[in-house]
Amino acid sequence: MGEGDARVKAIRFCSAILMWWEVLVLGCPEDLLSLATTYVDNAYAPYSGYRVVAVLRDVHDRVFVGVNVENPSYGLTVCAERVALFSAVTAGARRFKEILVYTSKPPPPIPCGACLQALSAFDEGGLRVYVHVGGGLCESFALAELLPRPFRL
Ligand code: THU
Repeated sequence: MGEGDARVKAIRFCSAILMWWEVLVLGCPEDLLSLATTYVDNAYAPYSGYRVVAVLRDVHDRVFVGVNVENPSYGLTVCAERVALFSAVTAGARRFKEILVYTSKPPPPIPCGACLQALSAFDEGGLRVYVHVGGGLCESFALAELLPRPFRL
């Protein structure tokens, strides 16, 4: 094994440790989690049965909530993340710190490509995405990690 390979392995190992430290020690922001559990029953998901809540915090600590809203014309369904984002933008918010995406049962609600692209238009490089399944661990990502090459105009 070359010196370069060992370095890459060491970096991967350290970032895995750091990720688990974040998950176990830091967890999801409690206030966002508490709001998410309050709103989860408002999700409108009669077709999938998969209820999602997104709670978005802007740089002024204002918080915006969205739930997934499904439609019998399935393609019209809107994810919780975009509902939260559009509500925030409507209220005048433009810069965001973090978003928590929550559901009460697996699988984890990792934001879909459309939501990542929508969020990335308002990301200046620091937007953190927390993903939480009720009763489980909190996963944490940088938005740019989930969508490294967003479309920009
Ligand atoms: N959904 C979200 O709202 N956010 C996610 O991150 C993943 C998927 C919704 C869309 C649809 O209503 C249901 O979950 C199943 O895909």
